[in-house]
Amino acid sequence: MKTLMKVARNAAKRAHAPYSNFRVGAAVLGSSSNIYEGANIENASYGIGTCAERVAIAAATMAGEKIEAIAVACVDAQGAPLSEKMPCGACRQWIQELAPHAEIMIDGENKLFKIGDLLPLPFRLAKPKRKRRR
Ligand code: THU
Repeated sequence: MKTLMKVARNAAKRAHAPYSNFRVGAAVLGSSSNIYEGANIENASYGIGTCAERVAIAAATMAGEKIEAIAVACVDAQGAPLSEKMPCGACRQWIQELAPHAEIMIDGENKLFKIGDLLPLPFRLAKPKRKRRR
């Protein structure tokens, strides 16, 4: 878990965050033991920027991983209250669908979180399409 957080902190250095100057890094551990990185990627059209967590989750999902853990590092908010470092609502919705069993770790906090605590009563479709066979 320490390694995973180090990867997340390092990924944050490669964020594209010229508008907020708020760099976020994420690292996702897959069941293969591979680690997938993400950082927030902003855009001049503000609303289409994306979060670090979703970049990393997308990469792990494309690799066919079962996601075991997610580390999030808000490197420009070190020492800030927890509320300034937690995954946003959109990322929570992604986590509940693509990483429902993941341990969620926030840089600078000792506690591990589960998505059920962060997003109770999530939206789900009654019959999601079956996953394609690889
Ligand atoms: N951000 C993330 O990367 N993850 C989150 O869960 C919260 C917010 C990014 C989006 C934006 O680039 C910057 O942080 C400020 O909101």
